[in-house]
Amino acid sequence: MPDVLAQARGADAILTCPGDNFDAALIAALPASVKVIATFSVGFDHIDIAAAAKRGIVVCNTPDVLSVTTAETALLLILAAARRAGEGERLVRSGEWQGWAPTQLLGVGVVGRRLGIFGMGRIGRELARLARGIGMTIHYRDVTRLPPELEDAANFHDSDASFLAACDVLSLNAPGGDGTYHWLNAERIALLPRGAVVVNAARGTLVDDEALIAALRGGHIGAAGLDVFEGEPRLNLGYLDLENVVLLPHLGSATIATRDAMGLLALDGIAAVLAGDQPANRVG
Ligand code: DGY
Repeated sequence: MPDVLAQARGADAILTCPGDNFDAALIAALPASVKVIATFSVGFDHIDIAAAAKRGIVVCNTPDVLSVTTAETALLLILAAARRAGEGERLVRSGEWQGWAPTQLLGVGVVGRRLGIFGMGRIGRELARLARGIGMTIHYRDVTRLPPELEDAANFHDSDASFLAACDVLSLNAPGGDGTYHWLNAERIALLPRGAVVVNAARGTLVDDEALIAALRGGHIGAAGLDVFEGEPRLNLGYLDLENVVLLPHLGSATIATRDAMGLLALDGIAAVLAGDQPANRVG
């Protein structure tokens, strides 16, 4: 916090990233010169929006430009987890691979299976589009049902129980924050079919790690693919002992083109605020 405050001295704007926690105390201590905080991310759960509003500080994010790339990462995790790509890669690198064998590292296919998307926003809908393309059937759970043109024949569920029972693969695509904190807990995991695959390219806080690790160990969850972690870059060390989990270092939006677009959009937001205009990517 002292570093941020020192750097913010005399600044009109702050460009920040998901790892920086702009809580109420930090925002209250920012110099009066700061008019806008732009985050290099679509997620803004690391910024206390109410505290910023109280100070008259505008907050901007980077929606839309990363939706396809982040959906690609979710699809990558689905395939990698279901088909045991992490284990296979480790085997090849270990030098212990003995060659093709009929029962070696058998996974589950996802073509023709049911994908449940928790959080059918822009990224969730892009994932639905990609997954439909490989023959998956889409189910989703969100606060409200989407209009038909956005739903695109996906199956809406108005209860966790019916939704989770329909997930051969569950993808978490909802925002972080209080409303989704530890949404995937032991009770909800128990409602998934045995052997389900779970992936998370949204926020680590959506998952109760101890519950997921227990389910991966016990076999109720067949495999998981995780790009995000509560408290990242530190993660629950229990994941490291498990073969049936694929771990990525928050690569969701990590392509050059997408990161360029995110940076430019964040800067557009700052420029608009400093010019006295309303930024299109304002949050809250
Ligand atoms: C976001 O934009 O919120 C992503 O998590 C960063 O890649």
